[in-house]
Order: sequence, then C-alpha cells, then structure tokens
Amino acid sequence: MEHHSLWQTIFYRSLAAHEKIPASRYLQLATVDNHGHPHCRTLVFRGFNQDKNQMYLHTDNRSEKMSQLERHNSVEACWYFSETREQFRFSGHVESISDKKSISHKKSISQSEQSKTTSCSPEAQRLRLTHWQNLSDALRESYGQNYDIAKPDENFVLLILHITRVDYLRLAPLPHLRVIYHLDASENWQAKSALP
Ligand SMILES: Cc1cc2nc3c(=O)[nH]c(=O)nc-3n(C[C@H](O)[C@H](O)[C@H](O)COP(=O)(O)O)c2cc1C
Repeated sequence: MEHHSLWQTIFYRSLAAHEKIPASRYLQLATVDNHGHPHCRTLVFRGFNQDKNQMYLHTDNRSEKMSQLERHNSVEACWYFSETREQFRFSGHVESISDKKSISHKKSISQSEQSKTTSCSPEAQRLRLTHWQNLSDALRESYGQNYDIAKPDENFVLLILHITRVDYLRLAPLPHLRVIYHLDASENWQAKSALP
C-alpha cells in the first residue's frame, strides 16, 4: 500500500519553514449543517500521522461543529502558509474521539450512523488521553475546572481527519502550480495537474 506521497513531503517542508510562526498552526475547517449551510472556523493543527494520512485537531463537545459532524462528517480543511505562499485544501471525513459517556448518551442519531463518525475503541481513547496530557494546563482548564491529567475532560474531543484528497496550490514562484492528489480505491495516491 502506497501511503506516502509527494504532497506529504511538500507539507512537511512547509511546516518546517513556518515552525517559528505560531499563527501558521491555524487552519480553517469547513462543515455543513442539516440544511446544507456551510460553517467555517479556525482550529489549531495538533499533529499529523503520515502512515495513516490522519490530521489531528481538538475541540469541545459542546460546540456546534460537533452536532454538524455527527450528521455529516465530510469536511474540508484549508491552510495557507504565508512564507512559502502555499495553500493546502485537505478533504476527507472526520472521526470524533469523544468521552465514552457522551457517545452513549447521544440519542439524536441511530447507532449505525454514530459508529461511522465516532469511536470509543481502547486504542482511540488512548490516543485521546495522550493528546489531553500533551496540552498546557491553561488549555486543559478551558474544557472544565479541576481537571484530572489522568482522565480527559468529558468535553474534550480529539478529531481525526482521514485525508483522502489534497488540493495543493503554490503561488510563488510564478507560474502558479496546482496539483490535486487523491487516494484511489487501492489506497494509492494519484496526482493530477490542475488549472487555474
Ligand atoms: C486562532 C484561533 C484558534 C482556534 N483554535 C480552536 C481549536 O483548536 N479548536 C476549537 O474547537 N476551536 C478553536 N477556535 C475557536 C473556533 O474558531 C470556533 O469559534 C469555535 O470552535 C466554535 O465553532 P463552532 O460553533 O462552529 O463549533 C479557535 C479560534 C481562533 C481565532
């Protein structure tokens, strides 16, 4: 299975070039609600798993994006790197790793629908715990006071974006370069030049 792709090499290079610019860790995540209306907001990039094509993000279970993701977990994340003048648009689906209790308490959608978007496997919960423990004290406190470092707050959600398509645009040097990468049915990355 060909997991690695040229876009990942470019992406790592862009991350490294912006390492000292905190604002370069922000990306825009777009979701749609039940009426098909789009919603876009800024999130902090929390890591990337190259072998699995997964991007990690954090959010609060009480936020509106969570109810949107429960119904429609297809998303696009858009990220602009100012120094290298590159834009990445990551598409795929989001898996939400929430508190086990909060998953079983959700009654608004069917269980089969829920299992497509949420996960409470021990492995997923371990990953959520690691992310929780890597947060600063101040950030942990933003989910709820008197937090326990050994147990993620019930509102803390780890979002895993499973990337299946990357639309890459480089504005400099001229001429512009745009390449669309997508994961085919055999899980190999394919690349195609695109205009404009
Ligand atoms: C610079 C910046 C970083 C942010 N990072 C996050 C984040 O990592 N996770 C998050 O849920 N919200 C983050 N927010 C807040 C979101 O943009 C948004 O206001 C909030 O998540 C509620 O969105 P929703 O109502 O669409 O769910 C950030 C906002 C800004 C301006």
